Amino acid sequence: METLETPKAGVVVLVPFPLQGHLTPMLQLGTILHSRGFSIVIAHTQHFNPPNPTNHPEFTFFPISDGLSGRDTSSTGNFLEIISAINTNCIQPLVKCIMMNKLQGQIGCIIYDSLMYFVDDVAHQLKLPSIFFRATTALYMQSYYAVLALEEKKMLPLPAESQLQEPVPELHSILRYQDLPISVSSKISKTLIEFIKNFSNIRSSVAVIWNSVEMLDHSALQQLQHQYQVPCFPLGPIHKLSPSPSQTSLLPEDTTCITWLDKHAPKSVLYVSLGSLATMGDKELVETAWGIANSGQRFLWVVRPSSVNGSDWIECLPDGFAELTRERGLIVKWAPQKRVLAHWAVGGFLSHCGWNSTLESICEGVPMICRPCFGDQMMNARFLVHVWKMGIELGKVVERESVEKAIRMVMVDELGNEMRHTAVEMKGKLELSVRKDGSSYRSLDELVEFIISLIH
Ligand code: UDX
Repeated sequence: METLETPKAGVVVLVPFPLQGHLTPMLQLGTILHSRGFSIVIAHTQHFNPPNPTNHPEFTFFPISDGLSGRDTSSTGNFLEIISAINTNCIQPLVKCIMMNKLQGQIGCIIYDSLMYFVDDVAHQLKLPSIFFRATTALYMQSYYAVLALEEKKMLPLPAESQLQEPVPELHSILRYQDLPISVSSKISKTLIEFIKNFSNIRSSVAVIWNSVEMLDHSALQQLQHQYQVPCFPLGPIHKLSPSPSQTSLLPEDTTCITWLDKHAPKSVLYVSLGSLATMGDKELVETAWGIANSGQRFLWVVRPSSVNGSDWIECLPDGFAELTRERGLIVKWAPQKRVLAHWAVGGFLSHCGWNSTLESICEGVPMICRPCFGDQMMNARFLVHVWKMGIELGKVVERESVEKAIRMVMVDELGNEMRHTAVEMKGKLELSVRKDGSSYRSLDELVEFIISLIH
């Protein structure tokens, strides 16, 4: 059994949700709180995507039995089924872990990902304060409430397809029904509604932490702060508050791409990646490939193993494309994305617009081509294009002509000058948030004080 280092400011237990886009910001939060004097315990799923403890010798890791040992963790399969299993199977193991390690007397609070909603009950049972952690925007959370309100009023499914283009009442006017995180034009199961209720209920949590930032998410943050009536701490972009970069990837990072980028001119390479979950069909892969080829631009493309439906990797790419890749591109299975986006050679990002990728791109002033897939990605894309004006969106059906046009627009065309300029401005504004006296920096100071007040 591991022993905890003597707590300085106190012990904080973090319970991350085991998918890359959730795990990364939670581990980064751990790094930040550790640098502020707290001892950090990571209570993580034992079998399903466990983090690698050797990357964080400063933390204490406690595996929690999740009952998912036989599961293929490379694909998420039925998402809701996995979330449900984890939230049922981990209750007793987490209680046991805290009791057996005699942590109760030392813990200041338990910070849990909103998808690990069982933790609030455990904390309550053990008389420990819990803090609700949300890896995404307050705006996304508002969209859950919008879906629940529509369901309550029996307005779902929407009667007419044409309504999908209309703005959703009570959300930012730029957001349409089709940007909501679920398909509102087909029947919605009771189970899905129950999950949305679970994800959006802060229960008895004494505070809320967001990986979001005032500058991008002001109005939704304000509204939810008012609604929740507990302190809210927007700390985004969390990775920029961290005193040191930490290794949080579940897949091995291919760092040869950095050496490859070193050889290229400033802003001459397009980076392409759809994050850790999104998949594409073989036809879309081929259309994207020809779009990239015909744009004439250099490219670094991440294709995760098994992310092309029906293929192990990139077998279905046309032969000619392999030759072109040797001349002016590189395809890897997983990249050190933050380093890639911060590299001078990268001039544009074709992305699924997951929230981490969105924040990371804004942080580096890289304009985006948005190809959203699910969840919050449609809303993030909508904001990137119409509010922050540093991106363009690909149509629903990906065709080589539109891909080529979008790449040229983002990378080189004169018409893209303003977008490139705005992206750099956005980077500057976001940097202010994490500087001393910036909104996220202040929020972090307040969070530290708040946790200390829970201990004493
Ligand atoms: C998921 C959801 O899809 C996303 O919409 C939600 O906001 C968070 O959870 P994911 O799809 O993986 O996450 O996207 P994203 O949020 O962008 O997170 C991906 C993370 O993986 C980023 O931090 C990115 O830097 C990292 N990454 C991605 C790599 O380090 N290397 C890669 O090659 C690709």
